[in-house]
Amino acid sequence: MRISVIGCGYLGAVHAAAMASIGHDVVGIDIDADKVRALSRGDAPFFEPGLPELLQQGVRSGALTFTTDMSAAAGAAVHFVGVGTPQQQSGHAADLSFVDAAFDALIPHLREGDVVAGKSTVPVGTAAVLAERVAPTGATLVWNPEFLREGWAVQDTIDPDRLVAGVPAGAEGERAADLLRQVYHPAVAKGTPFIVTDYATAELVKVSANAFLATKISFINAMAEIAEVTGADVTLLAEAIGHDKRIGRAFLGAGIGFGGGCLPKDIRAFAARAEELGRGESVNFLREVDAINLRRRDRAVQLVVEGLGGSVFGKKVTLLGAAFKPYSDDVRDSPALEVAVRLNGLGADVVVTDPEAIENARRLHPQLTYVESRDEALQDADAMVLVTEWDEYRRELSPEHAASLVRGRVVIDGRNSYDASVWRAAGWDYYGMGRP
Ligand code: UGA
Repeated sequence: MRISVIGCGYLGAVHAAAMASIGHDVVGIDIDADKVRALSRGDAPFFEPGLPELLQQGVRSGALTFTTDMSAAAGAAVHFVGVGTPQQQSGHAADLSFVDAAFDALIPHLREGDVVAGKSTVPVGTAAVLAERVAPTGATLVWNPEFLREGWAVQDTIDPDRLVAGVPAGAEGERAADLLRQVYHPAVAKGTPFIVTDYATAELVKVSANAFLATKISFINAMAEIAEVTGADVTLLAEAIGHDKRIGRAFLGAGIGFGGGCLPKDIRAFAARAEELGRGESVNFLREVDAINLRRRDRAVQLVVEGLGGSVFGKKVTLLGAAFKPYSDDVRDSPALEVAVRLNGLGADVVVTDPEAIENARRLHPQLTYVESRDEALQDADAMVLVTEWDEYRRELSPEHAASLVRGRVVIDGRNSYDASVWRAAGWDYYGMGRP
């Protein structure tokens, strides 16, 4: 099938490459000429495991092309729109200007019978408005939210755990849903749940899934706060409650909390939208979820200060990690980087290392010192802070090896990734988050 993908960021670039890999003829369209040039060479403009291989394969075979020219969308049967919806500069609502611009540019190229599949995360009610704008062309709008996780984006796109299509009522909607089933044929053939809904439900599925995940993380971080004043260990607590299948262990990792380009801005946009709908109270708890999450960053800073005897001034503090999570170079609202910036503000001599995110981090916070090599970064450190649990910091760093590099054996484990007893036995002062 001929497919266009509008917006080639974390979502769109992966979607385009994945669609080409399952046999479609795909054109990716983005307004950023540098990004389009890189993608056209088969180079991924960001770090995502498996994406370079898929891009190379698609570009080489001719099934995957990229352009800045929206007229290339003409003739495609399905047009995916996956542009960003960041938080507004002022306020918590989503900024829909990229979505509006994408539809403005796409609409003149639509034909009767085309399907436009919105993938961007939007406030509930947006699809209905966009559908009216698309209607005069004879094309049909479908809302097809995306649930991929950065770091697992290729796998999540080709083999998702569910597919959701919000469609208009009647035969037009059924036809559009069928077309989407054909697009996702390998997943549909293997029995992946394909849930057909109205627009509002599809939009809400996306934001409520992210709201639930954020709530789960903040729940366990709230328990970490209680553990901190009672001497309990939140990691054992998470393990114990996680055995209850109704609860589950996933997303009960207490630590410095969630960040990235999705969960933080999505819960804020959801709360803002609920307020507009006169139902602010229904999701008031999301403000608490946000507040708990942000407090964990304060707590991590506090632990470093405590670990260094009351002041970090003039002390060398090494941060292991800058990305908002491992297997990603994304530093948008990264808790890791925020902890680094705060410590820097308190007068610490902060050194940040990360296997993939240094370039992005430096662009955002040029005032920090960045060192590529983990061991070089740890040299003569007075304290070491694990903030992004990459394997090379978590599994592949022994307390003995770390001790041979640092000046002071103080470790703050912002992701509760280390075995405290092993580090203590090696002579370290170990500080976990919500652990004694
Ligand atoms: C999230 C959702 O998981 C995806 O399903 C969704 O498609 C995506 O947002 C999106 O809306 O595009 P992502 O932002 O890639 O995906 O990252 P997550 O794996 O959800 O992690 C988010 C943050 O939570 C990270 O900072 C991570 O370190 C943190 N986290 C995760 C915890 O603090 N504890 C945990 O137990 C799990």
